[in-house]
Amino acid sequence: MNARVEISSQTDVGEPLITCIELGHVYDSGRGRTTALGSVSLTIGRGEFVCVLGPSGCGKTTLLNILAGFVLPAKGVVRVGGHAINGPSSERGVVFQDYSLFPWLTARANVEFGLRMAGRAARERVKIAHDLLGLVDLPDVGEKYPFELSGGMKQRVAIARALATRPSLLLMDEPFAALDAMTRGSLQAKLVEIHRQEQPTILFVTHNIAEALVLASRLIVMSPNPGRIVEDISVDLPRPRRRTAPRFNELYEHVSRAIGLETAE
Ligand SMILES: Nc1ncnc2c1ncn2[C@@H]1O[C@H](COP(=O)(O)OP(=O)(O)OP(=O)(O)O)[C@@H](O)[C@H]1O
Ligand SMILES: [Mg+2]
Repeated sequence: MNARVEISSQTDVGEPLITCIELGHVYDSGRGRTTALGSVSLTIGRGEFVCVLGPSGCGKTTLLNILAGFVLPAKGVVRVGGHAINGPSSERGVVFQDYSLFPWLTARANVEFGLRMAGRAARERVKIAHDLLGLVDLPDVGEKYPFELSGGMKQRVAIARALATRPSLLLMDEPFAALDAMTRGSLQAKLVEIHRQEQPTILFVTHNIAEALVLASRLIVMSPNPGRIVEDISVDLPRPRRRTAPRFNELYEHVSRAIGLETAE
C-alpha cells in the first residue's frame, strides 16, 4: 500500500546565511577521479536547523568540509554571510564524529582554544569555558584530560568547544554516531535546547532518519554518483517531537524511500 503523503519542500529560507550555486568537487587521486559533488545549489537561512542525509559516499562530508573551509571546491560559488570562504574561521564551529579534542589539553583548555586564538582575555576565557561546560552538563570535568572522559563526555566537550566563539554556523558531521542510544538521546535534546536558546544555524549530517526528524526543521537528502541534492523537505512536526506521532512515521517512510532504503509496505 502506498498512501499519498503530503510533503512540503523548503521554499522561503529567510535571510540566507549559506549560499551554494552549482557547487562541484572532484577528488583527483593517482587512481582516478571521483565526482564527490556534481552540482549542488542550496540556500540556508540564518537560524535554520538543517539535517543532511544520504547514502555513504554521496558527498555529505565533502559539503561540510567545503563550508568549514577545509576543502576548496573545484567549481561553483559558496558564500557564508555574503563572503567567499577562504579557510577555517571562528565564525564556523565544527564538530566531527571522532571527537577531535586536543589530547594534550584539559577539557577546559580545549573549550578555551578558539578564544585563546582570538586573543580573548584569560578571565573572560575561564568564564565562558565554565559556562559552556555547565551548559553541556559537565560542570566538574574542566581539569580532566580527554583520555579521562567517556565518549559521550568528549563529544559534549567538543560541542562546548565549537560553541565557545559563538559561531553563527555550526557544522556537525555525524557527531553522535559512535554513542550509545541513551547518551545520543540526551545530546540530541541538549542540541535542540542550544538551538532554541542561541539560534545558531546548524548543518548536521546523520545516517539516522529518526535523529534527523527529532532535530531538524529541514532535511536535505543527497544521492551519490555524482553527489547531489534529491529532496529538500520541510519538517512540519511540532516540538517536542514524538517518535510515535503518525506524521513522524509518514515522514520517516518518505525519507527512507528518498534515500533508497527498502521499507516495509
Ligand atoms: N580525500 C579524498 N580523496 C579521494 N576521494 C575522496 C576523498 N574524500 C572523499 N572521497 C570520495 O568522494 C565521495 C564522497 O565522499 P564523502 O566523504 O563526502 O561522502 P559521505 O557522504 O560523507 O559518506 P559517508 O556517509 O560514508 O561519510 C566518495 O566517493 C569518496 O570515496
Ligand atoms: Mg561522511
